[in-house]
Amino acid sequence: MSGVSETVPQKTFYLETFGCQMNVHDSEKVVGTLVREGYRQVESVEQADLILYNTCSIRDKAEQKVFHRLADFKKLQAEGKKFGVLGCVAQQEGEKIFERAPHVSLVCGSASYRNLPEMLVQLESVPAGKRERRKVETENLVRITGLDDRQTDKCFETEFTARTNPHRGYITIIEGCDKFCAYCVVPFTRGKERSRTSTSVLAEARQMADLGYTEIQLLGQNVNSYKDPEGKKTFAELLAAVGEVAGIERVRFTTSHPRDFGRDIVEAIDAVPTLCDHVHLPVQSGSTRVLDAMQRLYTREQYLERIAWMKSAKREISITTDVIVGFPGETEADFNETLSLLDEVGYDAVFSFKYSARPNTPALGLKDALSEEEKSRRLEVMMALQKQMQIARYAKYVGRRLQVMVEGYNESRGQWIGRTSQNKTLNFTASHSGGLRIGSYTQVLVTRSFPNSLVGESVV
Ligand code: 5AD
Ligand code: SF4
Repeated sequence: MSGVSETVPQKTFYLETFGCQMNVHDSEKVVGTLVREGYRQVESVEQADLILYNTCSIRDKAEQKVFHRLADFKKLQAEGKKFGVLGCVAQQEGEKIFERAPHVSLVCGSASYRNLPEMLVQLESVPAGKRERRKVETENLVRITGLDDRQTDKCFETEFTARTNPHRGYITIIEGCDKFCAYCVVPFTRGKERSRTSTSVLAEARQMADLGYTEIQLLGQNVNSYKDPEGKKTFAELLAAVGEVAGIERVRFTTSHPRDFGRDIVEAIDAVPTLCDHVHLPVQSGSTRVLDAMQRLYTREQYLERIAWMKSAKREISITTDVIVGFPGETEADFNETLSLLDEVGYDAVFSFKYSARPNTPALGLKDALSEEEKSRRLEVMMALQKQMQIARYAKYVGRRLQVMVEGYNESRGQWIGRTSQNKTLNFTASHSGGLRIGSYTQVLVTRSFPNSLVGESVV
């Protein structure tokens, strides 16, 4: 990076990311910001002066990961390395992290990343280096926090986003969440909903297209709750406009909330061929009673109505979902309703989780009556049913020609790795590699299927 003298050793940082795509993209922005501040990213904690964790707290297991990492590498503090905790656990636990892991110097929630440059300057005032070990041990107690409350109306926009993939990239369109589902920690970790203007989103999309990106994924905790601060575009209109940017071949969006999922989104997919024929629509439960207890704001019937809109689309839209099993009070009958919903919808993937009680959430007060064993049993039953359904669903593609974006090459298998518009993995061989490279598009004839992927042969 310009401005950094070659004689001054560059400050280095290591960043590990946990959690969702939103966190992955936040990390790309954090990396860009740090590089701009003169830091260099390194691949191991041993090489780094500053060790950062971008954390997830969606379930207890995810939250514990960061504390395990901090414990594993605590000894490196003696070498003068500094530790920072970013993201959802940072926002949720705040200064309590310093008590649990006193070697941490920086705690910063996602709503405060725009203040990172100043926080880094403060952090640098803490001396580092082996020779100053004693000083470090005491002065590392310098504790820097960035913990906005829910009231911030600022988005984290930066022109320094360091995207890791040169062909497909994320654009955040909305941050935070106002829904307060009874089980969910997100409204507490990511603050209130705030949308970017459609003008700035479209400018970023055009800039990415100019740089050679062909696939864009619009991100938000609830993308379809998007409200243009300029009042110019609805979510469906923004989606269509991004799909019409010259050079963009594929547009995806995640995650959608069923309550705000309008028919206009399906109409946009019908009208604009670059909008991918895949929708991730988390249902969480097939029982209206449980949905009510979860404060999901829709019934089973309303959810199925949205599915019916998608099934009447011109292209076959692949549908995927998230399900929580063992929410407090979920009976066997409720669980069976979830199984019957999976059967009725026919998903191409189901991400299923055992309910995990989270701090601050409304469901914390509910009696968590189900044992871990029972939750595990239900999870297994559901996964077994879904696997059978996916075997049948994926088998239907054998004999069809599908377009893929080439994502990689697996040397040991001698196979290219491709992704279809429906977001399915399609591994394929090619008798000649003419024109094939990562990021290119090609037609593949499907010859075999597995429960989670397809196999084929390039037909160009
Ligand atoms: N326990 C289990 N799963 C959860 N999810 C969100 N909160 C919890 C929780 N407390 C799941 C939901 C959501 C996905 C990202 O994680 O299914 O859609
Ligand atoms: Fe995890 Fe949710 Fe935070 Fe994403 S937004 S990192 S899923 S807690």
